[in-house]
Amino acid sequence: MLKLENISKSFPQRGIVLDNLVLEAGEGDSIAITGPSGSGKSTLMNIIGALDRPDSGDVKFRGNSILNLSNNELSGYRNRNIGFVFQDHLLLNHLTIRENILLPLFAEKISSNEYTEKLSYCDLLAERVGITGLMDKFPFQISGGEAQRATIVRALTGKPSLLLADEPTGSLDAKNAENLGSLLVELNREFRITLIVATHSVDMASRMALHMKLDEGKLKV
Ligand SMILES: Nc1ncnc2c1ncn2[C@@H]1O[C@H](COP(=O)(O)OP(=O)(O)O)[C@@H](O)[C@H]1O
Ligand SMILES: [Mg+2]
Repeated sequence: MLKLENISKSFPQRGIVLDNLVLEAGEGDSIAITGPSGSGKSTLMNIIGALDRPDSGDVKFRGNSILNLSNNELSGYRNRNIGFVFQDHLLLNHLTIRENILLPLFAEKISSNEYTEKLSYCDLLAERVGITGLMDKFPFQISGGEAQRATIVRALTGKPSLLLADEPTGSLDAKNAENLGSLLVELNREFRITLIVATHSVDMASRMALHMKLDEGKLKV
């Protein structure tokens, strides 16, 4: 499904961050990427999610390179295929949880039928992650763990085939981190969504089928 071929990326002040890195993910895989702070996990996740470009190498999604897509095509690629969850929930405080979750749907033109369908899918997901009663609250009225579950619903409402989670439990306490870890694995199985998680957490990493370590710009098993 996803193939990174000899990806390299440097930053002027830092030098080489990713060095001829190779990664393959199949449909439905779950992969943990660990590595110390500054090892390049976020850089790698951003390249997979087409938020950043490598200096060299290729990124292929279902056989097609995404690197020669135009900006328009790239945002289409992201909207159709990829869900993001970050360390900080990035919910907007002046919108309700439901409005926050539905916001990405307005990035693309969709028919009203499609909109209705996604609305009910969003309610189903909210029920699945246990935030149905919180949909009309504002982000500051709910806990960090609840907010992170809301971002998972937001990430999945567009039915992506690939979920990228960058330190999703980074700002949660141990109990909430554990719950979020089990939830991600359950969603990976139930929806057969491919899951790539960058994490510091040994517990989270151990839940994934494959655990890779980012070391000196390369991924090692
Ligand atoms: N946009 C950028 N400009 C300059 N340096 C960057 C940029 N993004 C990341 N870096 C540097 O690249 C290295 C890897 O960062 P990052 O991918 O965020 O690591 P991690 O997520 O593993 O903590 C760090 O040294 C960081 O300072
Ligand atoms: Mg990071």
